[in-house]
Amino acid sequence: WLIEGSVAKTSASTQLDAKENLGDKKLFIADMQTAARGRFGRQYVTEQGKGIYMSLSLKPSTDIKNYTILTAAAITAAIETLTSKKPQIKWVNDIYLDNKKIAGVLVEHLLSSDYIIIGIGLNFNQLNFPLDLRDKAGSLFNEETPPITRTQLIAEIWRQFYKLQADETFFDIYRAHSFILGKTVEFEEQGETIIATAVDLTEHGELIVNTGGLIKVISSGEVSLKKW
Ligand code: BTN
Repeated sequence: WLIEGSVAKTSASTQLDAKENLGDKKLFIADMQTAARGRFGRQYVTEQGKGIYMSLSLKPSTDIKNYTILTAAAITAAIETLTSKKPQIKWVNDIYLDNKKIAGVLVEHLLSSDYIIIGIGLNFNQLNFPLDLRDKAGSLFNEETPPITRTQLIAEIWRQFYKLQADETFFDIYRAHSFILGKTVEFEEQGETIIATAVDLTEHGELIVNTGGLIKVISSGEVSLKKW
């Protein structure tokens, strides 16, 4: 795996940079973004120099649906390789540490092109979050001085990405780090809140849940852990 990368001090969004410069294994990294977006068009909070913000365009070589699973697995594997932290994954695209979200993955497929774009936002040593996110958002490193650099983690994430893709172990890594499998979750369906047990993933990365004996497959949207 050899990635061609460029680093900007500031970008509106590396996701847009990648979309405007499509190519196989082309990576855009920024220290800061001014119009970052997460899934569902939500605003994504960034802080100058405190996070990893990057987007890779590539020609998919496996089912496009698998790339979110693969990327989330690569992030957890990279963190565990370089640090003693134990991150977990909340289906489908969120990485958690100590019950707070520290990273998110956004995979986009442009209908008119052969490429997909994988965006990663990871709070590296970000301590300041807007009030409404303070309980939910966290950072890989907090008060401590990070023992690794952002560049080391970036390189390890993509190394893991291509390794797990080649040896096809990303589903196992993903399952082993799941925050929700075996737990009670809730989600919205046609305006109703459904409570279910998260059972497993399908081979396409959809979530299989059991709600009162009825098995359902959820392919998009969000689930949250049921709070008692
Ligand atoms: C999510 O949690 O919903 C996904 C967050 C993805 C954020 C990253 S940061 C780099 C890239 N540029 C963006 O505008 N979004 C992604």
